Amino acid sequence: MSDELLFQPNAAALAHTRTTEADYEAQYQRSIDDPDGFWAEQAKRLDWVTFPKTIKNTSFAYPDISIKWFEDGVLNVSYNCLDRHLEKRGDQTAIIWEGDTPGTDGKATYRELHERVCRYANVLKANGVKKGDRVTIYMPMVIDTAVAMLACTRIGAVHSVIFGGFSPDSIAGRVEDCGSKIILTADEGRRGGKTIALKKNVDAALSKVGGVERVIVTKVTGNAVAMEAGRDVWYDDEAAKVSADCPPEPMNAEDPLFILYTSGSTGKPKGVLHTTGGYLVYGSLTHELTFDYRDGEVFWCTADVGWITGHTYIVYGPLANGATTLMFEGVPSYPDASRFWQVVEKHKVNVFHTAPTAIRALMGAGAEFADKYDMPSLRLLGTVGEPINPEAWMWYYKHVGKERCGIVDCWWQTETGGHMIAPLPGAFPTKPGSATKPFFGVRPVVLSPEGVVQNQTKAEGVLAIADSWPGQMRTVYGDHQRFVDTYFSQYKGYYFTGDGCRRDSDGYYWITGRVDDVLNVSGHRLGTAEVESALVAHPKVSEAAVVGYPHDIKGQGIYCYVTLMAGEASSDELRSELRNWVRKEIGPIATPDLIQWAPGLPKTRSGKIMRRILRKVAENDFGSLGDTSTLADPAVVDDLISNRQNK
Ligand code: WTA
Repeated sequence: MSDELLFQPNAAALAHTRTTEADYEAQYQRSIDDPDGFWAEQAKRLDWVTFPKTIKNTSFAYPDISIKWFEDGVLNVSYNCLDRHLEKRGDQTAIIWEGDTPGTDGKATYRELHERVCRYANVLKANGVKKGDRVTIYMPMVIDTAVAMLACTRIGAVHSVIFGGFSPDSIAGRVEDCGSKIILTADEGRRGGKTIALKKNVDAALSKVGGVERVIVTKVTGNAVAMEAGRDVWYDDEAAKVSADCPPEPMNAEDPLFILYTSGSTGKPKGVLHTTGGYLVYGSLTHELTFDYRDGEVFWCTADVGWITGHTYIVYGPLANGATTLMFEGVPSYPDASRFWQVVEKHKVNVFHTAPTAIRALMGAGAEFADKYDMPSLRLLGTVGEPINPEAWMWYYKHVGKERCGIVDCWWQTETGGHMIAPLPGAFPTKPGSATKPFFGVRPVVLSPEGVVQNQTKAEGVLAIADSWPGQMRTVYGDHQRFVDTYFSQYKGYYFTGDGCRRDSDGYYWITGRVDDVLNVSGHRLGTAEVESALVAHPKVSEAAVVGYPHDIKGQGIYCYVTLMAGEASSDELRSELRNWVRKEIGPIATPDLIQWAPGLPKTRSGKIMRRILRKVAENDFGSLGDTSTLADPAVVDDLISNRQNK
């Protein structure tokens, strides 16, 4: 599809928008020329105990990376998401909850949510949690999870939410890394008609890691779970002992707000640390402008709160803006592929935000499921998490948006806190597959792989950012050096995103995917190193190399080359054993798609695995293997090619 396919905003979008093209250009320029002035103004969208005098104090000068925004400001996140709305919209629905099983739902008004959060905050205090303590949250998609997150922010505790699909080993690693003494969980979760044994996973994790003194369990399914006396308590019992009166803790803008673990190209997942003021200013502003959100609208982001998209665009952004946000417990395909559209009609959703992998899966199920629903409430559609192929964009536009709704393709990362490159609806035309132009205050640069800035408009290379923005992560929890090394050492003076991109002659950005060893499987980030270390932990595996390959639904699939220990025989049984092994070690999202037995891996004479070759074989692209003469044993490549797996 050509770059020239432009979708002009229609009359409805133009009538709705608060940002015209001229506004966008002028405001963008101002945000770059005068970041202090621009962001001081934006900071007024929050209620501060002390309004900041110092706005931006940041440096990307390697190796002294330092990022501070609004550093002398004082505020509380839960106050901004709850208390300040009570007078005007106490009875407005803050969160609509739609259960996994059709027909189950619930809601909380701002007043109810405020009460629940204050009570939960008192439960945390009564269980010994203090300002600055880390609190692990391993909970399903229920309102209580948002309550637990906000309760942490109310007392200044730092939450670390772990996606419910992660395994006991993954939980143990994260609990240990941040030294969390308390875990908030539920008996079980529900998803796609199945239950997820959350408490059981926590128990298994706690058999591997010490230091956790308290587990607070919310009853969700009501099925029996083991409770360890002295350590585990039921939330309801604790809540009955405390009041619902809990004043918000005044926090410095740079106090830690939360940690969210994410995969990188090396080592274990790292704890991305976000802080209080900058994150909330950025999250709420991007929510309002990218979705052109207006009072009274129903906003639905289908992410899980265990990911950054759930943090910023289910909980913090919408609630800071006094929005009605929808939380969905289920999956798009259960009971059938019309589930999303049913929910859109049932709750009269105005803005719907999902991931390309879901769109592709629903597209595969057939357009009739979406075509049955008119969805007149819909105004705008969002997509996030991975590059969207133009076919999926067009399908979304036609069958979901009925050629009436614009699409905002939002590029950003766990590290960025909020959208970085995304169209502002109505401000300029969109192009299927392009995240379009930078948000206010964001200075993208395209670098050649060697680090030369590409100044001409039309360019291709890797994507870096030239200056800080308020939503930027501040450090890797407990390891600032890793922060500096990961994001600032390769291209000095820039934040390196790890993504490749091109910029077309109109200045639109097209993200082409990761250029490092990070996979994006169904919009979930996974380090190849994590899957490799899970594989080699199996007693029969001697060596493993993992790469991504194009997958119709998932975007990328997980392709594993495995060398067995001497004397071990390969078999289909061993293949499924290894698949289950990785699931158990990391979680279902890391399940290998293809496993190829490789008696040898392509290595240089110094022993380095040549991943480029492995990628090409996995991609079925044998014509461009490049120079293989530097390999210690070039014959390995022929074996790899002749044993390539495709199912
Ligand atoms: C990819 C999710 C293309 C990208 C918010 C990035 C995208 C990684 C898009 C971050 C998009 C996210 N177009 N690629 N609209 N959005 N990505 O940390 O590779 O889970 O670096 O944050 O997802 O994934 P993360």
